[in-house]
Amino acid sequence: MPRNHGETNGVSRRDFMNTSGAVLVAGNVVRKEQQAGLSASESPGMPTYSVEIEMKLNGASQKANIDTRTTLLDLLRERLHLTGTKKGCDQGACGACTVHVNGKRVLSCLTLAATVHGKEVTTIEGIGSVDELHPLQEAFLRCDAYQCGYCTPGQIMSGIACIEEGHATGSEEEAREWMSGNLCRCSAYPNILAAVRQTAGVEEAVDPASQVLSLTSQQAREAVS
Ligand code: FES
Ligand code: FES
Repeated sequence: MPRNHGETNGVSRRDFMNTSGAVLVAGNVVRKEQQAGLSASESPGMPTYSVEIEMKLNGASQKANIDTRTTLLDLLRERLHLTGTKKGCDQGACGACTVHVNGKRVLSCLTLAATVHGKEVTTIEGIGSVDELHPLQEAFLRCDAYQCGYCTPGQIMSGIACIEEGHATGSEEEAREWMSGNLCRCSAYPNILAAVRQTAGVEEAVDPASQVLSLTSQQAREAVS
């Protein structure tokens, strides 16, 4: 005898849809809490899996009691209010959230905060100050290497790592390749590259715009005639 429509292995289609819907709703709740940086203990009805971590953050000891699902990016921005690190895609595609863990660049949106226990974390707030900029920050100003500035903290954290890794002093293509994980929707790429290469010491420390040939209209006419 054929099964009833909508019943499979003893589970009715209605039961299946109800269960699936509940899972999706729960998933959305977790996602919203993560985006808001809330811990499970702050989320009524959700199970609590918390862990105590301690790290060295920008040179100072920092403890935090976190939901095990918290990303490093959300811990930094939502709990510790270090908003210099930016959330762009939140899925590892743009580089806006780049920070250093034990001196290596990582995407903080893909790093669980629990994994940095006992490690050294450096964010854009830890590499310079208004009175004493990091050389790469000075180079970004000199080269006009930003427009809206949203990608800039991630670009600078990646640029410092790129220089320390030795990828900024080879060919321009090599430096560009090793900075390619950091997207800039304003397309300031030539100036970002110039700032990184100048800081690495392979290019003269000048504003790239000052090297653009400026012609009078008469000279321009003569040049194309
Ligand atoms: Fe992390 Fe885009 S926010 S890679
Ligand atoms: Fe606007 Fe890079 S300066 S995204």
